[in-house]
Amino acid sequence: MRTVDIIRKKRDGGELNSEEIAFIIRGCTDGSIPDYQLSAWAMAVYFQGMNARETADLTMEMARSGDQMDLGAIHGIKVDKHSTGGVGDTTTLILAPLVAAAGVPVAKMSGRGLGHTGGTIDKLESIPGYRVELSKEQFVEQVNRVGAAVISQTGNITPADKKLYSLRDVTATVNSIPLIASSVMSKKIASGADAIVLDVKTGNGAFMKSLEESIELAEAMVAIGSQVGRETVAVITGMDEPLGSSIGNALEVKEAIRVLKGEETGTPLRKVALMLGAHMLLLGGKAKDYVQAVGILEEAITSGAACNKLKEMIAAQGGKADIVDFPEQLPAADTIIPVHADGEGWIESVAAEEIGLAAMNLGAGRATKEDKIDLGVGIVLHKRSGERVVRGDTLAELHVSAGRAEAAEAAGKQVLAAFRLAERPVEPKPLVYAVVT
Ligand code: URA
Ligand code: CA
Repeated sequence: MRTVDIIRKKRDGGELNSEEIAFIIRGCTDGSIPDYQLSAWAMAVYFQGMNARETADLTMEMARSGDQMDLGAIHGIKVDKHSTGGVGDTTTLILAPLVAAAGVPVAKMSGRGLGHTGGTIDKLESIPGYRVELSKEQFVEQVNRVGAAVISQTGNITPADKKLYSLRDVTATVNSIPLIASSVMSKKIASGADAIVLDVKTGNGAFMKSLEESIELAEAMVAIGSQVGRETVAVITGMDEPLGSSIGNALEVKEAIRVLKGEETGTPLRKVALMLGAHMLLLGGKAKDYVQAVGILEEAITSGAACNKLKEMIAAQGGKADIVDFPEQLPAADTIIPVHADGEGWIESVAAEEIGLAAMNLGAGRATKEDKIDLGVGIVLHKRSGERVVRGDTLAELHVSAGRAEAAEAAGKQVLAAFRLAERPVEPKPLVYAVVT
């Protein structure tokens, strides 16, 4: 088999067979296919697409390209949850203890943040002592004993995806539905998930800005799940504005704790967390219908079981569990600077990407993989879309480290620009657009 023939076949709109896809991915993993041919192949896929069978083959071949977590030693159905990346989205910190408290084991590997989006592992590192690295044995033992563990991705998971993604990033081939779908699903499958709940973001802060493309991506991932025997449900949620009101690592941990304590009612973050959690319970076989699933989760919050589970999970990973009762012990910024409205009207949108970038500029996120982050800093939103404001109202607060006055001034301008005001009342955009099963 020759790589050039496979590239040509895809370039001309042909369907690749399983052997051809395996040849490309094996050559990607072992380095025998050079970057320029892999890039040309990715571009051919970008333009010609892939059918469901090709996409499923690509997914499984990438899943097999490195270590595969065998979570067979964990009792019960392992349901993983994945978000395509958002701003102020701390649902994993809420869902791990919440879903575990309802009896579904959560064995989760998460990543770090890059660019305008945050990462669960960075957030967890703001908890003093919390170890994000566990051996596979410790991970499995903890999930069986406590019900939940959230760790940094271990081992050599999907090296083919790593390689291919780095090439796609610099060859304008990220935005391809079969390539994104196979990239996401291969990682979930290699991580040992039996079933998967996906939160596909749509809008300003998301990979997919249009609803049509977001639905197409969701359908592609659900189809892969069904082709390879891992039941998958995708919820399409809005990312036109940040999900939670806090953006920044320790700030988001504090907000997650408030949700788990039942102190945040009716907020978008709580609503999306309960919705994703309910689908996790359904896939995990712990509820007979959606309404019952939501009821179980609400009860776990009201009874304090979810909060206790968070303490157990933190303690099991070496962290200081009493930050749940005393969140003021978490890292905090030196100064809080309000951002005031400079006009009046109804808030039409709070652009998620701009807010995420402003938080990154304050030190809450990374512009490049090597950047160090400042765990206490970030942004807290005081207003959301649909609300009316007058000149001088506090729209948001910047949580800033000492010596960052210049960064704070720039971030203040970015935050102000992210708030788009309209002259007439505006309906906030929907939070949930569709569920694809
Ligand atoms: N996230 C991924 O993991 N892979 C992609 O290709 C895009 C987003
Ligand atoms: Ca189905």
